[in-house]
Amino acid sequence: MPTHDQPDPLRIVVLQGSVRSERVGPAVADWAIEPLEVSEEFAVDVIDLAKVTLPDPTDLRPGGKGEPSEISPRLEAADAFMIITPEYNRGCPSTVKHAIDCHFLEWMFKPVLPVTYGVYGGLLAAEQLRSVFAELHAVTTRKAVGVAEPWSLLDQHGRLQPGPTAVRALRLGIRELSWWASALRHQRRTSPFVWQP
Ligand SMILES: Cc1cc2nc3c(=O)[nH]c(=O)nc-3n(C[C@H](O)[C@H](O)[C@H](O)COP(=O)(O)O)c2cc1C
Repeated sequence: MPTHDQPDPLRIVVLQGSVRSERVGPAVADWAIEPLEVSEEFAVDVIDLAKVTLPDPTDLRPGGKGEPSEISPRLEAADAFMIITPEYNRGCPSTVKHAIDCHFLEWMFKPVLPVTYGVYGGLLAAEQLRSVFAELHAVTTRKAVGVAEPWSLLDQHGRLQPGPTAVRALRLGIRELSWWASALRHQRRTSPFVWQP
């Protein structure tokens, strides 16, 4: 849960999508989270999909009619999302897609910053997220952050040390995410969209 004690920070849920036993995902997540955590503007809640149990796929229901998952309240409380995902076979891992599919209202009218990685930066996974989140009334930022070959960018402590292009993309992506998060939070609070399935 968020640890921030500012009066009304933007609540950012960071979803770490790889669950492989030997994964580079946490190093990418640690790097991407750092600018959020040092800012007074944000309260950060990190969800590692390897550490949560989501509903069985046989229980999926469309349009938010399924039972709330154990992370539903945390997603519901979020003003914005950062999705940290590798590219598997030109898309997201099934773990990320399943986490998305298990929820519906939780994503609605909120912004999403894709932070992807892979041989070429995982941008095909980012493009898939754009299409998927459009169906969920969520807006992806124009900027996607792609880290190419992160496994070759780890220092002796296992910390990711990407080049200036990725660092700049992260800064710009967070700036966009913050703008959308403020704008959409205001609109959700003052003029909520009446969703009629
Ligand atoms: C099933 C599988 C499919 C993959 N497909 C791609 C791919 O399409 N494009 C790519 O750039 N990397 C691909 N990779 C390589 C991953 O980018 C690399 O293994 C990365 O470390 C995965 O992230 P993780 O270690 O956090 O799970 C694939 C890896 C796996 C396990």
